[in-house]
Amino acid sequence: MYNDNPTLINVNKHIDESKQGEVLESFQSGLESEKKFYIESYGCQMNFADSEIVASILTEDGYSSTRIMEEADLILINTCSIREKAEDNVRQRLRQFDKVKKIKPGLLVGVLGCMAERLKGKFLDEEKLVDIVVGPDAYRDLPLLINNAEDGQKGVNVLLSREETYADISPLRLDSNGVSGFISIMRGCDNMCSFCVVPFTRGRERSRNPFTIVAEARDLFERGYKEITLLGQNVDSFKWENPETMEIYSFAMLLEMVALVSPIVRIRFSTSHPKDITDDVLFTMAKYDNICKYIHLPIQSGNSRILELMNRTYDRSWYESKVKRIYEIMPECAISSDIITGFCTETEEEHQDTLSIIEWAKFTMSYMFFYSERPGTLAARKYKDDVPYDVKKKRLSDVIRVQRQISFEHNKLDLGKTFEILIEGDSKKSSLDFKGRNSQNKAVIFPKIEGFKPGDYVNVKITSYTSATLKGEIV
Ligand code: 5AD
Ligand code: SF4
Repeated sequence: MYNDNPTLINVNKHIDESKQGEVLESFQSGLESEKKFYIESYGCQMNFADSEIVASILTEDGYSSTRIMEEADLILINTCSIREKAEDNVRQRLRQFDKVKKIKPGLLVGVLGCMAERLKGKFLDEEKLVDIVVGPDAYRDLPLLINNAEDGQKGVNVLLSREETYADISPLRLDSNGVSGFISIMRGCDNMCSFCVVPFTRGRERSRNPFTIVAEARDLFERGYKEITLLGQNVDSFKWENPETMEIYSFAMLLEMVALVSPIVRIRFSTSHPKDITDDVLFTMAKYDNICKYIHLPIQSGNSRILELMNRTYDRSWYESKVKRIYEIMPECAISSDIITGFCTETEEEHQDTLSIIEWAKFTMSYMFFYSERPGTLAARKYKDDVPYDVKKKRLSDVIRVQRQISFEHNKLDLGKTFEILIEGDSKKSSLDFKGRNSQNKAVIFPKIEGFKPGDYVNVKITSYTSATLKGEIV
């Protein structure tokens, strides 16, 4: 889910077909005004969704987007602070932008997102690479800050908000295959996992008005989208009180409202917290065919002592009982996880507990990381980062090996089964093949057949597999 990779992800890479006219128009008006922005996003899906909000705000302000960095008057980088490596990538990228700045006087560079929030004015004072610094809750202020920066002043707004959800801003979906769309349903996080910087960079948790979420889902459906992913740091704690009726909307209620937009639109969501996911959510998932049978349920560690130090507020047996409940209510449901190796004081024996929970829970996949101490977090203040780097890395490779084996075995069970696949586009390796996913979020590759296109559902029989993908044929 997180992209620490320096591979550039430009929100303008794929232009949503239904928006092409609009983009072209704004591109042309951009030519007249000659104000163009270029934006890159790193980190979680929330950041990518935020970049689409930013793109919308800038378009309203008369900017058009460009995919060519050298052509831009404004370069923005939406950043991630979750691990040190993510921040290193951004710094490296800023140095590259600086080279463009040197040959293009007047070019403005802005840092958005979590790193902006974490480092605040430091970017302006120490690094001198940046003109604008904007935290995740201050994007509405961008036009003003850009104006200030054009006048030679530095523009910073890193105020966090308790209310901002950007509910009224319709995201400009520039990096889209026209099939899958993302909707942010909440912002911030009130959990205090001791390793995590997110509560400090994204602020307090707040949920968006569910009716605006349903309206956005309907809009995506009307524009031909077939899959909607509801995003939040902890979707299960979604809670919105109608100020007129005082009625409280839970995540299970929201899920049902969105599922009812259309039976042909698949609904996914991420991320779930083991302490908050309720039976109501599981029953709602089971009730609607178009809610995908897939839950991203990060465990982080398989050892109860480490979970306590991580302040995850559950222990191993609580997690196990959640997994049992999921399989009881939806035997076909896939579960994936996030795992951190080498957290403070973790012993070899405790690490073995993480390996065993992967096997026990049968995660179809995991996002796996070694612990990276983040300044200001609870763990950084309270515990010593005492597992040597080499040990953390070795444990990470153990976790990757075990997960790969479990994924392989899970995929093996799919051999000969037929799944309904939503076609997303060409496979990466061959334009003769399509790539899609089944309800369980497994990637499936299959040869193209005349008459089918991205956005169509097809039945695919699985004929072979690896640990990462299923292969099959349309039947
Ligand atoms: N070090 C390593 N991994 C981390 N994550 C969050 N903070 C850290 C950190 N300091 C991982 C967790 C989380 C995922 C998004 O990133 O596994 O679920
Ligand atoms: Fe970070 Fe924990 Fe919140 Fe996830 S739930 S964003 S890991 S504090």
